[in-house]
Amino acid sequence: MLSFDDTPVQKPAVPSSNDSQPSGRVNAVDKKVINGTTDVNQLVPFKHKWAWEKYLAQCANHWMPQEVNMQRDIEQWKTGQLTEDEMRIVKRNLGFFVTADSLAANNIVLGTYRQITSPECRQYLLRQAFDEAIHTHAYQYIVESLGLDEGEVFNAYNEIKSIRDKDEFLIPFIDVLCDPAFKTGSLENDQKLLRSLIVFACIMEGLFFYVGFVQILALGRQNKMTGAAEQYQYILRDESSHCNFGIDLINTIKLENPQLWTESFKAEIVELFKKAVELEYAYAEDTMPRGVLGLNASMFKEYLRFIANRRMQQIGLDQLFPGVNNPFPWMSEMIDLKKEKNFFETRVTEYQTGGALSWD
Ligand SMILES: [Fe+2]
Ligand SMILES: [Fe+2]
Repeated sequence: MLSFDDTPVQKPAVPSSNDSQPSGRVNAVDKKVINGTTDVNQLVPFKHKWAWEKYLAQCANHWMPQEVNMQRDIEQWKTGQLTEDEMRIVKRNLGFFVTADSLAANNIVLGTYRQITSPECRQYLLRQAFDEAIHTHAYQYIVESLGLDEGEVFNAYNEIKSIRDKDEFLIPFIDVLCDPAFKTGSLENDQKLLRSLIVFACIMEGLFFYVGFVQILALGRQNKMTGAAEQYQYILRDESSHCNFGIDLINTIKLENPQLWTESFKAEIVELFKKAVELEYAYAEDTMPRGVLGLNASMFKEYLRFIANRRMQQIGLDQLFPGVNNPFPWMSEMIDLKKEKNFFETRVTEYQTGGALSWD
């Protein structure tokens, strides 16, 4: 039981957030994204101002799943207005995403956060972790609204091969950071961290989510499952911010630690992108055994190559698939969503604190 007494405190209880907590004032110039030695509790002066700006922008994007009305989705789902293939897309999607965002949250909270020594970058990661909780909440809200079999959907990452294969590719890169004994400070471990950050930001958030995003947003564009589609639109905007933050983080680490970016390291990353495109394409084929919604799996081959090229260029690698085009140009409009723009004509336009909105 907690109690108060008059025993003098022997030592000031300064919370320690890394092994060697320094006690002096911070010079911005000394701050580093990894292996920094400045006090991580002193947010300012900023050095990595881009991280703070992204944190502010992401807070302005705040939304909650229960703001979105699911009534029409429920009617469409329960009264046979969707085809078998459309329902398969929705179920596969949820099967992947319901656990993917928990993996993402674990990666941030249990893995990445403690290795990052820039407090402004940590500030973004805290916001990102909350976003991932909101995303898991959103998927759960859709599953609950549609009355899907929770056990089936939440265990899909063990039961559906195309989902399991993606997760089996990702999990080793998450596990390495979540190992409590893992610590940066050597060339080998700093490269391990950088590799995991690239897999997480550019491949997981930046590539493995995109077949699903296109599919659900394509449904919404045809006036189907518009509540789910609206939520996916917000999630896409969040993930696009997470991916861009991750890319800035990666590029800053490269800049501050150029010794990590060796030829063999780069070659290894290229191989990971190749494998990831294959896995995501296999997932696209599994979710769309036939053409549906004007989409077919082979359009996704080009789209995934287009995205992979873009991610690789963003971190300073050559394009793997020169000459491919974006078969879904409407996706950029989705990513640039302003919350006021009510694309699917569901009703909520502004975030309100203190509870769910009412519908008329
Ligand atoms: Fe997410
Ligand atoms: Fe994310």
